[in-house]
Amino acid sequence: MKLVTTRSELSKIQETGLKNNTIGLVPTMGNLHQGHLELVKRSLQRTQKTMVTIFVNPKQFGPNEDFEKYPRTLEADLLKLKELDGADNIVVFAPQSTLEIYPEGFNTTIEVQGLDNLLCGANRPGHFKGVTTVVYQLFKLSGADMAFFGQKDFQQFKIIEKMVHDLSLEIELEMCPIIREPSGLALSSRNQYLSSSEREEARLIKETLDHLKELFLENREKALKKREDILFHEPRWQYLEVLDGSHLTEVSAKTNQVVVAGAFLMGDTRLIDNILFDL
Ligand code: PAF
Repeated sequence: MKLVTTRSELSKIQETGLKNNTIGLVPTMGNLHQGHLELVKRSLQRTQKTMVTIFVNPKQFGPNEDFEKYPRTLEADLLKLKELDGADNIVVFAPQSTLEIYPEGFNTTIEVQGLDNLLCGANRPGHFKGVTTVVYQLFKLSGADMAFFGQKDFQQFKIIEKMVHDLSLEIELEMCPIIREPSGLALSSRNQYLSSSEREEARLIKETLDHLKELFLENREKALKKREDILFHEPRWQYLEVLDGSHLTEVSAKTNQVVVAGAFLMGDTRLIDNILFDL
């Protein structure tokens, strides 16, 4: 496994170790958990070389969000990656300065309009512009043929998919399943902010999504009414939606796939989750 921290080291490695290989990109903000490692494993299966990027992107955090306290655990992350089968085919790009991604004077924003004003976008203004801008840069810097993202950030995936389509980027995207704790809680770097009782209580998130799915399959009206009741009685739900999974619009007669998505405030920690099912 190789570690590079600057653009110039990255270009060198591209001309030597990566040349003539298919490259899979796994963009992360570090603090790797099993969910990230499954993305890396998938990339190792599907491509010859895998580039894992570790960069806590300031542009996707709002002024009162957790950019400063976001866990930075590079040493532990590298150990986890080294232990994977096929680690020799991994290059880690972990810039130590924001200037490696956004050079002096960088003044460009990539924005996918429309899909970013609902769900997380409605609650985190500017977040998705930060995500698409950094992901665009990482696509370009890595020269990747494929990129792997987790379903937990479903809206993020849909927005990146639209960016790739609109800008005709030559990269194939793959969305990989959510990895969960035995309680059903979706793995997230932010789970470590939870106390043990909060972590236990957080099982209600997946249970609620599953309940809405069951109701929806039985009786759509009942499910939508239940969703309203839940939002009314439990203000810690920042949103809870049942939407068309392809377009993130209301479910209609044309809907083939449904997403039930929610964001829940557990103390100071914002947890997101979703489930997808076909009709
Ligand atoms: O999903 C994430 O961890 C981040 O949003 C990403 C894609 C690495 C961009 O910073």
